[in-house]
Amino acid sequence: MSIRFIKNKQRFILHTKHTTYAFDVVFGRYLYHTYYGKRTNAIPDPIDRIVSFAPYLSTLDAGKSPDFFPQECSFYGAGDFRPNALRLSADGTGVCDFVYHSYRIFKGRVALDGLPAARADEHTHTLEITLLDEVSGCRLKLYYTVFADVDVISRYMMVENVGERPVTIHKCMPLMLDLDRSDLDMISLYGSHCCEVNFQRTPLHHGLQSVYSNRGASSHHYNPFVALCDHNATDERGEVYGFNFVYSGSFLDEVDVDQFGRTRVLIGLGSECFSYSLNEGEVFCSPEAIMTYSSSGIGKMTRNLHRFVRNHILPAPSLDPHPVVLNTWEACFFDINEDKLIRFAKEAKKTGFDMLVMDDGWFGARNNDQAGLGDWYENRNKFPDGLASFVKKIKAEGIQFGIWVEPEMVNPDSELYRAHPDWALRVEGREPLRSRHQLVLDMSNPAVVDYLIDRFDRTFGDIPIDYFKWDMNRHLSHVGSSVLPADQQGEVFFRYMKGVYRLFDWFASRFPNAVIETCSGGGGRYDLGMMPYGFQIWTSDNTNPYARTMIQASAMLAYPAATMSCHVSNPHGNLRSLDYRYKVAVGGMLGYELNILDMSDEIKRDISAQIAQYKSFEHVIRLGDYYNLAFPTKYSYSAYYYATADASELLLTLIEKADCQKGTTKLLKLKAARADAVYTDVLTGKTYRGEELRHGLRVDLLGDGDRAQLFYFRVSDICNKI
Ligand code: DGJ
Repeated sequence: MSIRFIKNKQRFILHTKHTTYAFDVVFGRYLYHTYYGKRTNAIPDPIDRIVSFAPYLSTLDAGKSPDFFPQECSFYGAGDFRPNALRLSADGTGVCDFVYHSYRIFKGRVALDGLPAARADEHTHTLEITLLDEVSGCRLKLYYTVFADVDVISRYMMVENVGERPVTIHKCMPLMLDLDRSDLDMISLYGSHCCEVNFQRTPLHHGLQSVYSNRGASSHHYNPFVALCDHNATDERGEVYGFNFVYSGSFLDEVDVDQFGRTRVLIGLGSECFSYSLNEGEVFCSPEAIMTYSSSGIGKMTRNLHRFVRNHILPAPSLDPHPVVLNTWEACFFDINEDKLIRFAKEAKKTGFDMLVMDDGWFGARNNDQAGLGDWYENRNKFPDGLASFVKKIKAEGIQFGIWVEPEMVNPDSELYRAHPDWALRVEGREPLRSRHQLVLDMSNPAVVDYLIDRFDRTFGDIPIDYFKWDMNRHLSHVGSSVLPADQQGEVFFRYMKGVYRLFDWFASRFPNAVIETCSGGGGRYDLGMMPYGFQIWTSDNTNPYARTMIQASAMLAYPAATMSCHVSNPHGNLRSLDYRYKVAVGGMLGYELNILDMSDEIKRDISAQIAQYKSFEHVIRLGDYYNLAFPTKYSYSAYYYATADASELLLTLIEKADCQKGTTKLLKLKAARADAVYTDVLTGKTYRGEELRHGLRVDLLGDGDRAQLFYFRVSDICNKI
């Protein structure tokens, strides 16, 4: 059992394979955090300390102020002046003070009402801690779900109003971790559209440092993933704590270093874009946040997170080979029609593609980005015999079919908006702002979600669609709903996401054989909340291979390659560039966005060969462990490899950047290689001892800027036999 309660110490201990997390119930009421780190049974005892200006209860002495000790969940206004995890009240003050009541340990986990959550398996256990706050009349349940196999612990909370007055929750941060140190760096990922997930590493300083979104989507601007690590931590050495949030809307990650140099981490919904009213008898359930710990560097944290996502977050189809798609967007933009796409399908099939994806432009009056969103029925000028007949013709070519949708949006120039202007988010008396000529539907209004379900059901009905690309191309401004009273408008951001998740759930159950690729103008919702629905995510609208090398390397810090959709686009008939783009794209799940009708036979032959080669090692990328060797922001090249769990296959990639010096030799140490094995590089036939790969493979840089090299090693023999 991964969770224990030690009665005489009033101590909870949570073990994963390599980590331990512990806290004590102290003074009969508070939860005192004592340990998170390398697996151990030597848990330190809590200590008292008298600190000036730290308030305390009259029944306890001055050494027992909640402002001093590391806590599991801190409450606004109740004596802990650091940033708090929970602010709620029935009386408008926001002050709450929950007291420990009881615990329960059980196998499995608790489902989160209408929210995505990590999947439990037979090894998953949960600790439920119940606390009570008599004044607000609320019961608080803190959950710790232990995914022991992957060294991850998740936290979520439920507030039950068991009193006699309505209460309002003003801030909710389900994950709180207090560390007794601040000699740490913070790693976060910032960016913008077409320039997602830039790596940032800065030393912690006194005060609050945060990343957040108040955009209604996790967004391109900050990813919800953050990590803290020793100042000198490297990929292979040092202590590292990683955090993430299983949610796709506005969020807040706070890291505070207090007056005594202690660090508090809070991950959750924050308060700026969140409040929630709870009537008597109602329950609020928060999204889930996760943490992992590595005592052996950033690389191990990454592999923990990757395994967690693969084993507990991604839907089952993601573990099967992903189709190699030909997407129409960068080839055609809005200029699509039945005849053209059937010709695409024929050529795509001959070239070896698995699927044709029809992107934007197939519906309503959608000839550019100014009209049509919301009108989810085929444009009969482009598809004269209708969608069902068109898809039948595509399938007759022997290829799978995918289609683009952007369900949450509406163009003012659309039938839907003309019929239901009140279905867009807006604030009475204020002009709703447009972005890409579109407004956002009020997904917090159940009638809107019901309408979309009915509309998509009628449009897609029993058409055998294999894949939906679900896009979202603007953020939420003037967030107001026409169906909620004034005192509940603060709930719209959260209810919006629950509406979106309800629609995802419907798609998943209505089209059980289809997979969903999520997208938000590229990587604007690259988060753990999307991943249980979408089997992969469109990583960025930027398909320039230099930019992609950076973006993919940073995304890989927190998310496995199976989630990362990577397309080859636009090589302008330049074969060298095609090769380079391909070798960059095989960092993740390969696809193409090219006009196959304009292509020379030579390029098509090359693409066929690329697809065949990719399929020979796709499983290593999709399921393998990831090892970074040279991060591209630091070096003039990027190098990394994937290794299967038994290390019998290794796929090494070296990507050169513009400033690479020809002739330079790099020593790439593949430490996951088996020392007892002989490997053959399947692409060249050359043989290497595992020991040699572990000490370092010598690779010469080719120079000139757009070169990349792939090595695919497979165990071909065992050393002592030769
Ligand atoms: C943004 C996406 O990221 C693109 O791939 C494409 O689907 C366009 N939207 C279509 O409007």
